[in-house]
Amino acid sequence: MAGREDISFGVIGCGLMGREFASAAARYLHLKNPGVRPRIVAVCDTSPEAMDWFVQNIPDIRLVTQDYHELLADPEIQAVYCAVPHNLHEQLYIDIIRSGKHLMGEKPFGIDQRANRAILDVIEQNPDVLVRCSSELPFFPGAYQISEWIRSGAFGQIIEVEAGFWHSSDLDPQKPINWKRRVATNGEYGCMGDLGLHALHIPLRFGWMPRSVRALLKKVVNERPDREGHMVPCETWDNAILACDVQTQTQEFPMVLSMKRIAPGHANTWFIRIMGTEMSAEFSTKNPKQVAYLPYQSGREQAWRILDTPYASAYQTITGSIFEFGFSDGILQMWAAFCDEIANGSKMSQPFYCVTPQETKLSHDLFTAALKSHRTNQTVSLV
Ligand SMILES: NC(=O)c1ccc[n+]([C@@H]2O[C@H](COP(=O)([O-])OP(=O)(O)OC[C@H]3O[C@@H](n4cnc5c(N)ncnc54)[C@H](O)[C@@H]3O)[C@@H](O)[C@H]2O)c1
Repeated sequence: MAGREDISFGVIGCGLMGREFASAAARYLHLKNPGVRPRIVAVCDTSPEAMDWFVQNIPDIRLVTQDYHELLADPEIQAVYCAVPHNLHEQLYIDIIRSGKHLMGEKPFGIDQRANRAILDVIEQNPDVLVRCSSELPFFPGAYQISEWIRSGAFGQIIEVEAGFWHSSDLDPQKPINWKRRVATNGEYGCMGDLGLHALHIPLRFGWMPRSVRALLKKVVNERPDREGHMVPCETWDNAILACDVQTQTQEFPMVLSMKRIAPGHANTWFIRIMGTEMSAEFSTKNPKQVAYLPYQSGREQAWRILDTPYASAYQTITGSIFEFGFSDGILQMWAAFCDEIANGSKMSQPFYCVTPQETKLSHDLFTAALKSHRTNQTVSLV
């Protein structure tokens, strides 16, 4: 039975990320003041096996379908989480938005700039639908703390910024090919489309849009085995380094972004490092409990302080503040922000909302310019 405080959700795409949402929704009681709760009532995947896990684990599910149109036709479903390969974003997101249901989409929010623009056009025509894009890592307490410092102007004049997201499982040349290694399904951006919006979430939130980019893109593993063991081309960019020039109304500074599928030793390392004249700070999920910062006053010592961050993110939970925070906690916090915004709009209970469609547009502008920069060996202007 739906409660007054429930938002009925359909999930389209029951793979890795679909399951993460299901798990977050199942432990929503972890939040101290949960407000409205997500309740998954319908699932859709072209693979029946992918849906079995949901049916076995979620008692509220009453619609199981291989055709997403059937899910969108259900008037009781208020919101959809859509986590499908990138080549499907455009058509599915557009259909979801036109159905009048709120949408949490996935990055890169369209396989390329054209697809992203088509989605944003439909969003403009449907202003009553809340549309956001998933990005959970800024909800780690250390990252959240850094956002608070940026918001309060604690860094003074920004000297430089580095942000990135590094993986390493693709170092294994025997890892079979999947849709993420093919241009037709993942897009020409490669690792930028896959990892880039995560690195950009905090910079874009605070208006640090590059006005130019010089990109270095790298393919490391050129062939992988398919399911039959035949070697097939691995088409997408594995690693990207983007040297950006940021100009805001009051500041001008360099920002280096890196997205790497092949960074030896890094499982899922997301980081941000900000150097400023009054404070510098650094957070990495490699060291998820700690945030490092260096406050500075004229003539005083320059000493890094390492703070064990309490389990404190955007939304309070039942977890004691001395305990550790992890990936699935970030996912839960992100879903709390999305549901809070559906229920309360701009009056949500804390300021860090999920990635907006406009922020995805800026990421597409940057990645498209980065492809051009690599192709032409030039710095490409974004203004
Ligand atoms: N936020 C994050 O941290 C994060 C992490 C990984 C992936 N992602 C993003 O999530 C999205 C999905 O990635 P994933 O890793 O979950 O992929 P996945 O391959 O594990 O799951 C995708 C699912 O979509 C299903 N599907 C394909 N076509 C469909 C259709 N027409 N209708 C319904 N279902 C269909 C597939 O059968 C599969 O089960 C991508 O956009 C990816 O970039 C985000």
